Amino acid sequence: MVDFKKKIAESIAQVLEMNVNEIEACIENPKGTDNGDYAFPCFRLAKTMRKAPPVIAEEIKNKLQVNEQYICKVEVVGGYVNFFVNKEKLANEVLQEISKSNAYGKSEIGKGKNVVVDYSSPNIAKPFHIGHLRSTVIGGALYNIYKYLGYNVTGINHLGDYGTQFGKLIEGYKRWGTEYNIDENPIEELTNIYIRINQACKEDEAILEECRNNFKKLEEGDIYCVELWNKFKDVSLKEFQKIYDLLGSKFDSWNGEAFYSDKMAEIVELLEKSGKLVKSEGARIIDLENKGMAPCIIEKSNGSSTYATRDLAAIMYRARTYDFDKVLYLTSYEQVLHFKQVFETAKLLGLDEKYTNGLEHVPFGMVLLKTGKMSTREGNIIKLEDLLNESISRAKEIIQEKNPNLENKEEIAKRVGLGAVIFNDLANSRLKDEIFDWDTILNFQGETGPYIQYTYVRTKSVIEKVGEVPDIKNVKISLLLDDASSKILKLIYNFEDILIQVTEKSEPSILSRYLIDVAKAYSNFYNENKIIVDDKDIQNARVYLTYAVGKVLKTGAGLLGIEMPDKM
Ligand code: ARG
Repeated sequence: MVDFKKKIAESIAQVLEMNVNEIEACIENPKGTDNGDYAFPCFRLAKTMRKAPPVIAEEIKNKLQVNEQYICKVEVVGGYVNFFVNKEKLANEVLQEISKSNAYGKSEIGKGKNVVVDYSSPNIAKPFHIGHLRSTVIGGALYNIYKYLGYNVTGINHLGDYGTQFGKLIEGYKRWGTEYNIDENPIEELTNIYIRINQACKEDEAILEECRNNFKKLEEGDIYCVELWNKFKDVSLKEFQKIYDLLGSKFDSWNGEAFYSDKMAEIVELLEKSGKLVKSEGARIIDLENKGMAPCIIEKSNGSSTYATRDLAAIMYRARTYDFDKVLYLTSYEQVLHFKQVFETAKLLGLDEKYTNGLEHVPFGMVLLKTGKMSTREGNIIKLEDLLNESISRAKEIIQEKNPNLENKEEIAKRVGLGAVIFNDLANSRLKDEIFDWDTILNFQGETGPYIQYTYVRTKSVIEKVGEVPDIKNVKISLLLDDASSKILKLIYNFEDILIQVTEKSEPSILSRYLIDVAKAYSNFYNENKIIVDDKDIQNARVYLTYAVGKVLKTGAGLLGIEMPDKM
């Protein structure tokens, strides 16, 4: 498609001493339609040119030679030069592209770049909590979008499968394993054992010693301990897999923390070599006081490694294995300090700067129930699988009420129920805490997943009524220049740009908001215009626009991990 922004930047570059890319980076997308489609602000030029911004804007406008094929009007408002895109050209570009491509907006701009997404990453023998769900959903969306833009992406589930708690679990299992039904209810039962053994450790130092010993044995490869650890891991993964199946989550690697157990010695050595590894209260740490942070603990006083050491080993391994340009870590903002410490310490490993500069923590907010924090510690454990299934059954009730004769209700309810939960996780900027409320997320008319699905279904039913999508050759673009149509076409034109913005800000909500905008623009168009009419030219044009909207909604939602129903 024609890159209008670039065209504008090129024409400005001929009258200003600035290069095209610099100009392009300055060009803004004004809100609303009064100020055109693109605006070039002149405020920053005032100093060097020693003139007022409106004067500069006027000068640019007067000297400028724009190609009318692309830009139909240039206006100065205050210190801005506003550009109005030739609507017919834009409409034509968009619809031609839609007709040609099965993967609208797909590109190769990421070709040759390696991105690692570290996401989901629940802990073995512990509940998969709502924070892991957010990590899975946001990380999954980023994974898909990077891939769609041509990056080489590796999705890693950095399982929490290591640490002294496994020594405790082994001890608890050894003592009371037969009392618990681990195969049936693994996570709950293992949690119960864990609570019980913790209590026992508090009462009896000798038991705690046994636990530590177990962990040591586990590290040394003791058969009994390793076997048990494998069992805990297997049953936990089976539980987690139920959630991944519902969400359609896939990972390229399941290398969790334990995978790095034999890779930490090298890290300690490298840190020793750096001269920065110091003793403190029996532990070995990297002092980060001059960076304004608490120290990064590398080895605890009892000699065992830490979560941070394992993350450092993972950075080294990933640099070697994936030659990454970027690693994205998705966790809640509770781990902001951890990653700051790790990234700072990673600079001491002698890695190429390419790697240390590519580390990026992508934190997100908490999920709050309308009644307060969803917590596992206070005992109000909400099983994620139950939550997803509840969403599906609530969706089913709504569908049953609205459209009792619908075929294939099960599958549709599944898509709608899951779409509602997924969209809710992506609807607002990720750092905001999210309020979880059933009525809001399942509202078909709100800014929700089901609303996007509902709008998509509308486009499908229009096409079904007409019988087929008209051939693009029979579409008269000149019939799609009214405001409602133009608004939709401009949104569709921006799709790829939106995906790029998502990657630049690690913010999938940019795409979620965008899909809401598209759906609203279409609803507006749908309310204003009859689509199926006697005039075949008008009908063809409007049906084609409808088809384009459906395509973008489906593609965009798919990238977010939301499947579209064909009916609902
Ligand atoms: N298992 C951790 C948790 O549940 C998240 C791991 C995130 N990834 C990482 N490389 N540290 O909090």
